[in-house]
Amino acid sequence: MPDDDPQAATSSHGSEDPSLAWLELAPDYEQARAKEDSLDRLVEWPAQRDLLGDVTGRSVLDVGCGNGGKLAELVRDGATASVGVDISGNFLGAPPPGAEFVRGDLSELDSVPGLAGRRFDRILFLQSFGYAKDPVRTLRAARTLLTDDGFVLLTKTQPLRYAVERADRNGTSLGEEYFSTAPFSYRTGWNEQIALTKRRYTVSDLINVFSAAGLWIETAIEPQLSEDAATRTSRRG
Ligand SMILES: C[S@@+](CC[C@H](N)C(=O)[O-])C[C@H]1O[C@@H](n2cnc3c(N)ncnc32)[C@H](O)[C@@H]1O
Repeated sequence: MPDDDPQAATSSHGSEDPSLAWLELAPDYEQARAKEDSLDRLVEWPAQRDLLGDVTGRSVLDVGCGNGGKLAELVRDGATASVGVDISGNFLGAPPPGAEFVRGDLSELDSVPGLAGRRFDRILFLQSFGYAKDPVRTLRAARTLLTDDGFVLLTKTQPLRYAVERADRNGTSLGEEYFSTAPFSYRTGWNEQIALTKRRYTVSDLINVFSAAGLWIETAIEPQLSEDAATRTSRRG
């Protein structure tokens, strides 16, 4: 999968609203994600699933859930009373019993229909947190929806990856690109008609957002392609 965490998207039709762009982009993204050799299938989802562990009897809120496929899998694995929220509304036909899908904006998590007064054992932001207009506000809202012993699982693209790509493209140095604060745009492989504009971030930016929202980081991992998956993909290639 060529990309996974755009911060904002501009469609070929000129809309600057990332949410509108996702109405177009969502089916293309899901098509790319579903491929056997997508980054999500090979690296991200196995690592995310591993961190979640046993979800039996746990309620899960998946924020920016895409088509809801991951939430449906968690419910099949025993999760209960779970909700997937996404702005695109591009959900799987029928959610399995124990799951519901709601169209909503993660920048306004405090007013997404049906969430008020509820508590979840696990709150997921899987490659979706970059869309929050005010990241601290969104994490604070998530915190109020979390059970006392619950946790947030948030995944974002390692910012070094973007810095390497930009340094290659611009003939600049890695350090220059990593610490630069100017937004950058490019077209994704999901749909060449839609340009994505990203806000840059460093690892310390991410850590500070958690602290500002009154949360702390218990575990951080940087998952790699397993040897087995690498062999399988190189055989196919
Ligand atoms: C890169 S995809 C990740 C999807 C899914 N979490 C996964 O891991 O496959 C980003 C998702 O964030 C959603 N999204 C973008 N902006 C959003 C917003 N403001 N509120 C809720 N969801 C949003 C998109 O519609 C898309 O489904």
